[in-house]
Amino acid sequence: MSDGHGDLIKTPKQLIIVCIVALVVPVAIAYLGAQLVTGSKRIDESEAKKSVEQRIKPVGEIAKFDGTPPPAPVAAAAGAVVKAKSGEEVYQAACTACHGAGIAGAPKTGDKTAWAARVTQGAATLYDHAIKGFKTMPAKGGQTALSDDEVKAAVDYQLAKLK
Ligand code: HEC
Repeated sequence: MSDGHGDLIKTPKQLIIVCIVALVVPVAIAYLGAQLVTGSKRIDESEAKKSVEQRIKPVGEIAKFDGTPPPAPVAAAAGAVVKAKSGEEVYQAACTACHGAGIAGAPKTGDKTAWAARVTQGAATLYDHAIKGFKTMPAKGGQTALSDDEVKAAVDYQLAKLK
């Protein structure tokens, strides 16, 4: 029966095994090879996509407005409105027009001689005269919107200038 070639395939069972091996091995090699090539390519693609996204992303991002105003600046603005003016601010806004140069008989700020007799009345009287007015000195220097404390602060500023 044998032709002397020493056939490896002697039974149908062996034939089936050889066929399966002959099919599976090249497919497996092809699959692994393809994985090797496309696998590394996939990484490149995702990185390329990332860098493109980075380059085309908008410069600024718009924050979503959820209906509630940002609290910090509003609180700061409210604080600025409520905050009383300093003595110097009040003086510059309401008093320096007359007291800066000593206009209309107003005692000039910093002029010790002009203020000497007035200062002896005491701070309480000076506050009172500045708030309610005194002879030709208009009440609150004419700025009736000023609070009494703001006018007092301006008087304190004038008195400090005498030292
Ligand atoms: C329109 C001009 C004018 C303005 C503005 C003015 N003053 Fe006078 N002030 C006078 C005159 C004039 C006198 C002097 C009154 C007198 O003794 O005849 C005077 C006097 C005073 C005196 C001394 C009062 C006393 O008892 O002797 C004080 C204190 C004073 N002013 C504070 C202020 C302050 C504070 C302001 C700003 C809030 C102010 N003045 C704005 C005109 C002004």
